[in-house]
Parts: sequence; C-alpha cells; structure tokens
Amino acid sequence: MIGRLNHVAIAVPELESAARVYRETLGAIISDTVPQPEHGVTTIFIQLPNTKIELLEPLGEASPIAAFLERNAAGGIHHICYEVDDIVAARDKLVSDGARVLGDGEPKIGAHGKPVLFLHPKDFCGTLVELEQA
Ligand code: CO
Repeated sequence: MIGRLNHVAIAVPELESAARVYRETLGAIISDTVPQPEHGVTTIFIQLPNTKIELLEPLGEASPIAAFLERNAAGGIHHICYEVDDIVAARDKLVSDGARVLGDGEPKIGAHGKPVLFLHPKDFCGTLVELEQA
C-alpha cells in the first residue's frame, strides 16, 4: 500500500527565516509562499532530488499547528507524507486494522490539489502521517 515519500513537513514559527536557511544556507530551490486558509497554514515547498520538504507556518486563529509550536518553539518535524495509489482503499484497509483517521475520515484536497488524509500519530510510531493520492 505505502508508496513514495512525498514530503516531510516542518512546522516553523516564522516562514521567511526558515526559507532563508533552505535557500541560502542549504542552497535549495524553494517555491513561492502559499497561504492555505482552509488548512490554517502558509506553506513553502522545497524540491529535493528525491522528495520535498514542506515548511509550515500557522495561519489564522485556529491553526492546526499552533499547539505543536507551543511545545516546539523553534519548530520541528510535524508530519511525513506517503503516497498511496488509492486513498479510499488505503483508508478502508487502515480503519479495518484499527487505525484512526483524523477529522471526519473523508479525504480533503491538500496542498498539491490531490486528496489527502491524516492518520493518528499514536497508531504510527508517534508520527503524524499524511496519505496523499499518488
Ligand atoms: Co503535508
């Protein structure tokens, strides 16, 4: 079921300085800054040869990453995203095995315009997992 590593997401308190680290210190090519109000974050994507890094900054009052940044003031790895060929089939298999899907359990359109789901970190080795339709 599990496919390619699509991205690793890093929550940061301040997107511009994080982007500078990747662009200037690490020499990466970075995307434009994209506000995603429906997800409560502003994002920058960094394309690496074999995967992507997603930098996340809180957006709005009820950002889903606000509590994470309270616990990790300097930022930190927030989630990892795996591709799956069929997100609904993957979800149904995981749920039947006892895994918990966050929210209402239905795929939402994510940052790349493809359906995504989030899985409870307690079911996946303490790591918040995003699944994205390949
Ligand atoms: Co993500």
